[in-house]
Amino acid sequence: MHVPAAFEELDSVFADAWARLARGAADRKSALHTMTVASLRQDGSPTARTVVLRGVQPADRILRFHTDRRAPKLAGLAAEPRVGLLLYDPGARLQLRLDGVAEVVGEGGLPDRLWDRSHPGSRACYRQPVAPGASVDGPRVAIPPAGEPAHGRENFAIVQVRVHRLDWLFLNADGHRRACFDFSPAGEGPSPEGHGGQGIAAGWTGRWVAP
Ligand SMILES: Cc1cc2nc3c(=O)[nH]c(=O)nc-3n(C[C@H](O)[C@H](O)[C@H](O)COP(=O)(O)O)c2cc1C
Repeated sequence: MHVPAAFEELDSVFADAWARLARGAADRKSALHTMTVASLRQDGSPTARTVVLRGVQPADRILRFHTDRRAPKLAGLAAEPRVGLLLYDPGARLQLRLDGVAEVVGEGGLPDRLWDRSHPGSRACYRQPVAPGASVDGPRVAIPPAGEPAHGRENFAIVQVRVHRLDWLFLNADGHRRACFDFSPAGEGPSPEGHGGQGIAAGWTGRWVAP
């Protein structure tokens, strides 16, 4: 079974994983264009949902998605901002599990710009008159009305997840491969058994682990 050359060294595994995430955000056809976000509800119970991966900033360790400010997940994230992100590319036989901390950004230049750039069809979702998750009398009650371009902006927010762990798993008939990368704030340095090589960004430490 073909093993990409990048999968031989921790440095290149790390760089390749972030490059794949960036391509996933940019390419609607990529298997990494959607991800599962796991978080806690306000009552502490676990839940997960699919979202579209909208942006990746490797240098800042950020993955971004868009959401409706009225959605229940926001109340849960306010109480517990730690989240798990899960992506799987069946073609590449690659799973990426990321741990991070979510920040909801509703106001400001970035959400304004992203709103302006978003597809009219995507904007329509934010004009839905009823909050996501609220009970309605039937399937047609919450259909978004046509509206002005700015209408719905008040319900639009971006969620930025700042990642501090990346768990990489490659499925391979000749032996699965798994690596774990952890970020520590500057000054703490890499862990003794870890490896912070050239391809691994500052603050990150990688290690091979048993799959
Ligand atoms: C393919 C797909 C893409 C989705 N993308 C998003 C998204 O980008 N943002 C979002 O808030 N919900 C998205 N959803 C809906 C969520 O999965 C979820 O149903 C909704 O956000 C309500 O979640 P909550 O009750 O946990 O707030 C998507 C669902 C699917 C099936």
